Amino acid sequence: MIIDIINKKRLGQELSYKELDYFFNGYLNGKVKDYQMSSLLMAICINGMTDEEIYALTKIFVDSGDILDLSFMPGVKVDKHSTGGVGDKTTLVVAPIVSALDIPIIKMSGRGLGFTGGTIDKLESIPGYNTSLTDEEIIKQAKDIGIVLTGQTATLVPMDKMVYALRDVTGTVSSVPLIAVSTMSKKIASGADKIVMDIKVGKGALLHTKKEAQKLSELMKKIGSFYNREVETIISDMNNPLGTNIGNSLEVLEAIELLKGNIKDGNFHDLCLKLCSEIISMAKDISKEKALEMSKSAIMDGSAYKKFQELVKAQGGNLSKIKVSKKTKQIRSNKKGTLEKINAFELGEISVGLGAGRIEKDDVIDPKVGIVLKKSLGDKIKKGSVLCTIYYNNPDSFEIEKVREAFSIK
Ligand code: URA
Repeated sequence: MIIDIINKKRLGQELSYKELDYFFNGYLNGKVKDYQMSSLLMAICINGMTDEEIYALTKIFVDSGDILDLSFMPGVKVDKHSTGGVGDKTTLVVAPIVSALDIPIIKMSGRGLGFTGGTIDKLESIPGYNTSLTDEEIIKQAKDIGIVLTGQTATLVPMDKMVYALRDVTGTVSSVPLIAVSTMSKKIASGADKIVMDIKVGKGALLHTKKEAQKLSELMKKIGSFYNREVETIISDMNNPLGTNIGNSLEVLEAIELLKGNIKDGNFHDLCLKLCSEIISMAKDISKEKALEMSKSAIMDGSAYKKFQELVKAQGGNLSKIKVSKKTKQIRSNKKGTLEKINAFELGEISVGLGAGRIEKDDVIDPKVGIVLKKSLGDKIKKGSVLCTIYYNNPDSFEIEKVREAFSIK
């Protein structure tokens, strides 16, 4: 039976709900082995999945754990999710802005794997911040302050945890149907009524073409309507890093600057406001323009940053104790010209090498290391101009020439 299912998918035939259920639940309870699941995942990567298969697999994933019941919170509950990028700290900004405007936000985030960072790792760079709240603690905090940013509980789509870990090491992460199932099942199980999906496309993302991103967007909306959830998608560029800071503490500090109103433009600022505008317009049923104005006001009147402070305090964190490495190295250009590209993937890899991300699932992160960009796209560069500053712990953890190569100067 196991081998028949693999063969069927290898030949490009459609699997029934029963077959998918047998195989994936078999994996959860140990009957289907890693090598068998890897083989099926690769066949899915190559041959794709029909819509019927995608709905079936999403249901199997959702049913593998508990669904968080948020009906105790009045009003429309909105959630956001990003497919992962380099320097993506938007949740740290978007969630407090939305919450400051009285929209409840209870968000469970993941850790980074490979070159993409995870929100939970960023939050854990705030000393004391607890990312392992229980269901009871989540509910209490949501009722008290209307905002929760925590890690995925053990009961939230356990199937995805197992399958994602295997996908990560078997070259099966970048499959559009598998990304749709993985992300949407978690959002559905998290209990939100409306969902905003930030689909990253480019060198520093799982998907490299607009066409794949559009396909994923379509699938996410279809799964949403199957589950009676409204889904909006944003397709955003991930060829260049988001914002200036890459690395956990550094990214929290950059998010704080935006929340304080000290960052007024750039791709990080613009994407945060776009996401807020989508979420607020969905939740309050108002125009995106009005929602955008409200988001800007929440930054300028200080309420968004106040909400962030409230959140950090409620989860035990101490913002005054955030630390970045004291060891720094400025990387200077060895040629002149115009800065045309900053390779997000390369910088993501370099930041993992510094210790800001994981190579293996159980690697321990160094929250203090990372990269701060000192030049923006289009800037004129002189020989000797500082391109970026590396915050490191071990001087052997990066190569100056490799860092320089991430900047295309023409
Ligand atoms: N993020 C997820 O949670 N799952 C995927 O498959 C890809 C990105």
